[in-house]
Amino acid sequence: MVSTSLPGGTWTLGDLTVTRFGYGAMQLAGPWVMGPPADHGGALAVLRAAVELGITHIDTSEAYGPHVTNQLIREALHPYPDSLHIVTKVGANRDQQGGWPPARDPESLRRSVHENLETLGLDVLDLVNLRLGDAAGPQPGSVAEAFETLVDLQRQGLIRHLGVSNATPEQIAEAQAIAPIVCVQNMYNLAHRQDDELIDALAEQGIAYVPFFPLGGFSPLQSSVLSTVAARLEAAPMSVALAWLLRRSPNILLIPGTSSTTHLRENIAGAALPLSDDDLAELDKIGR
Ligand SMILES: NC(=O)c1ccc[n+]([C@@H]2O[C@H](COP(=O)([O-])OP(=O)(O)OC[C@H]3O[C@@H](n4cnc5c(N)ncnc54)[C@H](OP(=O)(O)O)[C@@H]3O)[C@@H](O)[C@H]2O)c1
Repeated sequence: MVSTSLPGGTWTLGDLTVTRFGYGAMQLAGPWVMGPPADHGGALAVLRAAVELGITHIDTSEAYGPHVTNQLIREALHPYPDSLHIVTKVGANRDQQGGWPPARDPESLRRSVHENLETLGLDVLDLVNLRLGDAAGPQPGSVAEAFETLVDLQRQGLIRHLGVSNATPEQIAEAQAIAPIVCVQNMYNLAHRQDDELIDALAEQGIAYVPFFPLGGFSPLQSSVLSTVAARLEAAPMSVALAWLLRRSPNILLIPGTSSTTHLRENIAGAALPLSDDDLAELDKIGR
């Protein structure tokens, strides 16, 4: 049982309890998520601070760097505390230009699961998301062959729980008809509300929704309404964006990324910001 003073409390992914306030490790790699970080020691310090501050959910992928982010996590935190759960994803490679070509054929998926096990130094991966779609977002198409490959690896004992990422509602339903999922990781934030209905439907099923780019990702969230509300609350816009996500639905888990321990602390404090009904109504207009 994990107790936490982090904002939002905890959530259960299958049989794993995690803090709703997690950490997204993607941007620890070099520019555009390629190569090593400019500040290796700083990257290790952020990961260690996240765990010291009580975060028990770290999101990563073998494709970040590639390999770099997983290697940093291992260097900073292995042997991992029992309470820490590292969530990874498979389904995309990297090319020379920094692109993210899909790699969802069975052989690529098996190889990627084994690479994640090796770079993270684990015998079992707690949660693996099948990344679908492309850089433009979710794309239609059957997920059956790819998802069944991961289910097979789960039966072999290499994966504890499964999820999907960058997925359409139809693909989520198709995966669920094959095997249970514990989370969906899609792009969502104050300004990108395309998954509103999906979030509510997953909440009814007890399935976590983990928004990627909660702060806007490579293009930080900008909105005059957000700035106005933040100024009124004497808070940073990033804080308001995170506090809003925690209030949006109890099944939302946060994985904001940062390469700065200062920002990490600011984000934890900011996510606890109380928002009034009037604040929420005003913020709600941004993405509607
Ligand atoms: N499933 C997928 O396809 C997919 C795609 C993208 C991302 N993800 C996951 O989602 C996680 C989150 O996404 P993300 O990190 O790309 O985007 P994000 O969390 O929306 O934003 C991260 C950016 O915000 C900045 N930032 C964070 N806190 C700040 C603060 N308090 N003040 C000012 N700037 C701040 C960071 O810069 P600093 O480093 O300077 O703080 C960084 O540039 C990733 O780490 C990854 O694990 C998944």
